[in-house]
Amino acid sequence: MKKKTLVIANWKMQLNSADSVALAKEVVRLWAGQAAGRSDIEVVACPSHVALSAVHEILNGTPVAMGAQDVFWEDKGAYTGEISPVTLKELGCEYCLVGHSERRGFLGETDEMVQKKTAALLRHNIIPVVCVGETMEERRAGKRDAVVIAQVQAAIKGNRPVGTQKLVIAYEPRWVIGSGQAVAPDDAASMHRLIRDTLYENLPADVVDRQTTVIYGGSVDAGNMGGFIKLDVIDGVLVGGASLKAPEFVKLCELAADLNT
Ligand code: PGA
Repeated sequence: MKKKTLVIANWKMQLNSADSVALAKEVVRLWAGQAAGRSDIEVVACPSHVALSAVHEILNGTPVAMGAQDVFWEDKGAYTGEISPVTLKELGCEYCLVGHSERRGFLGETDEMVQKKTAALLRHNIIPVVCVGETMEERRAGKRDAVVIAQVQAAIKGNRPVGTQKLVIAYEPRWVIGSGQAVAPDDAASMHRLIRDTLYENLPADVVDRQTTVIYGGSVDAGNMGGFIKLDVIDGVLVGGASLKAPEFVKLCELAADLNT
C-alpha cells in the first residue's frame, strides 16, 4: 500500500469561471461520499487563476483540495500580470504546478525559473508540483534520462523541504501530453526510479521518504490509470483532458482509491 495516492486534475485554460465552478460542484457531489473515511487518497483540482476564488468557495471544507497552475517567485512588486504565492495562499491553494511543459514550451520557462518558483511555494507552505519530462527529440537522441535528471536537480537546488513542507515531482513526457496515448507503465516506472534516485542523491533519505511524492502525467484516463497506480514506485497521477468531465474523473479517483488497499 502506498502512503497516499495523489490524483491531481489540471484544468489548464479549458474552462471559463462559471464552467469551473460547475465542474467543481459536480466533482464534490460525486466524490464526497466515496472519500468519506479514506485517508489513503488525496484529490486536487487546479483551475485557472481567474477561477481560483470561486472554486475555493465550492471546495473549501470538502475532500477535494485546490491547486494553482503557476506562480511568480516574488511575494510582491512591479511584476505586471504575475501572481504572488501570498495571493495563492490567501485564495486557498494547497498545491501549485510549476514548470508544466506547456509553460516550458510556449512561454520559455527555464529550470532557473522553476527553481525560484519552487522556493517561493515552499516558503509559503504551498506544495510545489514540479513537472519534468523530455521532448520526443530528446528521447530519440538518447537524452531522456539526462534531461529529466537535470530538471529535477535544478528544481530542488537549495529547495530542501523542511518541517511540514512537501514536494511533488510529476514526470510528464512532453510528447505524450494531450496525445491520447500514455507511455507504457514500465517506461514511466523506470523514470520514476531514476527521479527517486536523483532525490536520494540530493536530499536526506528521510526527507525523500516522508516529504516527497513522484507522480506520472500524460494522457492518463480511467482506462489506463490502473497500470500506473498499481506500481509501487508511482505515487499518483496528474490528469489533464480526463479531468474535465466529473463522472470520468471521479471514476478514475475511485479506481485509484480501490487499488491502494
Ligand atoms: P493530459 O494532460 O492528461 O491531457 O495529457 C496532462 C497534463 O498536461 O498535466
